[in-house]
Amino acid sequence: MLKVCVIGMGHIGNLHARIYRESKQAELVGVCDLLPDRAHAAAKTHGAKAYLDAAQMLAEVRPDIVSITTAGVENGSDHHRPTIQALEAGAHVLCEKPICNDIAKAEEMVGTARRLNRCMGVDFNHRFTPAARVAKRWQQEGRLGHLLFVNVSMWIMNRNETSPWFHLKSLHPHTVDLMRHFCGDVEAVHCFATKAPGRKIWSTATMSLRFKNGMVGTLAGSYDIERGHPMERCEVAGTGGRFVIDDMWREVTLYPAGNGEKSVYTNPVFGGIRDFDDTFRNRINTFVEQIAAGAKPDEIDGSGADGLAAQKVLDAAVRSVESGQVISLV
Ligand SMILES: NC(=O)c1ccc[n+]([C@@H]2O[C@H](COP(=O)([O-])OP(=O)(O)OC[C@H]3O[C@@H](n4cnc5c(N)ncnc54)[C@H](O)[C@@H]3O)[C@@H](O)[C@H]2O)c1
Repeated sequence: MLKVCVIGMGHIGNLHARIYRESKQAELVGVCDLLPDRAHAAAKTHGAKAYLDAAQMLAEVRPDIVSITTAGVENGSDHHRPTIQALEAGAHVLCEKPICNDIAKAEEMVGTARRLNRCMGVDFNHRFTPAARVAKRWQQEGRLGHLLFVNVSMWIMNRNETSPWFHLKSLHPHTVDLMRHFCGDVEAVHCFATKAPGRKIWSTATMSLRFKNGMVGTLAGSYDIERGHPMERCEVAGTGGRFVIDDMWREVTLYPAGNGEKSVYTNPVFGGIRDFDDTFRNRINTFVEQIAAGAKPDEIDGSGADGLAAQKVLDAAVRSVESGQVISLV
């Protein structure tokens, strides 16, 4: 049984804790928050010991896995310190996205995991849905042929106005990771951004991307559209066919080139994903399974290095909006 701790007991930390509790390979032993009310409430809910200090918890419990579910500026600035603490205490770390918007600190997080030979994952739950896995299998079977282009869009409502770049840096780790998952590393970025009426931040944006493998892509995202309808679409096309993932887990369709007979995977009513929270279960369970199976750090699906690469693309997107230029990542 793998001993697990969670640091940062907001909604997302409690979600991680609940999923670890339900895992047959993990035992939730400690929960930590700087805020006593949150730490104690989580301890009561999940039947684990409460801590107000991560270093103390790590020293006492010596966990195998630690989830970092803190937030901070642009939803990521509070990830750095507890991640380093957990790695140095010998734990494997699953960190929420964005890994960290300070690129030097994100480098340090990934570098520390590498130096200490610990596994590090990022909660890129969008790439772990059954629909995304089916799409990946179709791609690996060569059913897309030579890869040509990708179109991804994602839109929700988020009225947070704390940083001009909050939308790009907090939402788009997911979309950029999905693009990298199917298309590989990004070579160049050009980003345009706009502000919805009444907003001070760059709350809607589009990006044009070129990938190292020669693919081209577009991304559209927004924090200005009320929830209730589909929120995400991912299309990848090649000479042999094209797939479209509709709404993260609901459906994926393969359109073979020159052939009217398409293939469709639809989320099942029984045993399927019921809501957004369920997508965390697929991601977290994969991390636990990989650690239990003795995966090597570079075998982690949705790794810290993937998290860092996504933030570098978003950092380039910010520089592109500021300068009006195409930003090269090579
Ligand atoms: N993967 C996804 O789809 C997804 C969805 C939503 C949010 N998130 C991410 O989840 C993270 C958490 O979101 P949230 O809404 O639960 O945040 P939150 O602000 O409600 O909770 C974070 C908690 O961390 C605590 N904290 C901060 N630093 C700490 C430290 N050093 N030690 C102990 N506790 C500390 C804070 O006191 C706070 O209670 C964010 O990074 C966010 O981007 C991911």
